[in-house]
Amino acid sequence: MSEPKDARRVTTHVLQEMKAQGQPIAMLTAYDFSLASLVDAAGIDVILVGDSASNVMAGHETTLPITLDQMIYHASSVVRGCHRALIVVDLPFGTYQGNSKGALNSAIRIMKESGAHAVKLEGGREVIGSIERILTAGIPVMGHLGLTPQSIYKFGTYVVRAKEEAEAQRLREDAKLLEQAGCFAIVLEKIPAALAAEVARSVSIPVIGIGAGGGVDGQVLVLHDMLGINKAFNPRFLRRYADLHGVITGAVGRYLNDVRSRDFPSADEQY
Ligand code: KIV
Repeated sequence: MSEPKDARRVTTHVLQEMKAQGQPIAMLTAYDFSLASLVDAAGIDVILVGDSASNVMAGHETTLPITLDQMIYHASSVVRGCHRALIVVDLPFGTYQGNSKGALNSAIRIMKESGAHAVKLEGGREVIGSIERILTAGIPVMGHLGLTPQSIYKFGTYVVRAKEEAEAQRLREDAKLLEQAGCFAIVLEKIPAALAAEVARSVSIPVIGIGAGGGVDGQVLVLHDMLGINKAFNPRFLRRYADLHGVITGAVGRYLNDVRSRDFPSADEQY
């Protein structure tokens, strides 16, 4: 048997080793070839083709409208841009809940048509049947608990989840169920840091947080948020690493001026 094309590729086993060694896992979203290539080249461990594409790429208010075909389009673009990162793709709303056969078919389509390496889906005990069925096909599954944006109309708001003991206890139990079912990792979104740290200690699989404090095994942010493309979204957990809003509007403004003043193109910029 020959060596894999790129032996340095991050796998689910690598993530497990990172947790065992106490090495933090860095994950970011990406939705297109160009930005995914940059994120991969910078050395990120995991790229999530999140259904947040519905918000940041398509301008929808929620993640609910994005379709499986659209997720596959985004995922295949990301896959073409990456050589190292593990690529995880969100199963969109309506493609896995309440129907494990449908869930398996959705996951198979993602894997076959995009070339990604794993899927993610939201929920605990209520989606265990779907998770188990997907795993029978050898498809790695990442869980997602806490604030699960596909349930926004049930929650009614994007505030911190599991502050009350009953919801916290349910989350603890769901994390154990996801681990037992065979998930390779769990995302915890917008829950108290102490609860997230407790869950990370209680399961053997990596726990990746967003708005879940520093006591977990890794962090994930939405790329467009951390790059400062969208100025309107300012949750407390978000650290901005760039001001691309300023950079891009400034560059476009200078281009506008140059075209209008006929400064562009110059003699050197034509044939
Ligand atoms: O869709 C997404 O971007 C996500 C992250 C917020 C974890 O699920």
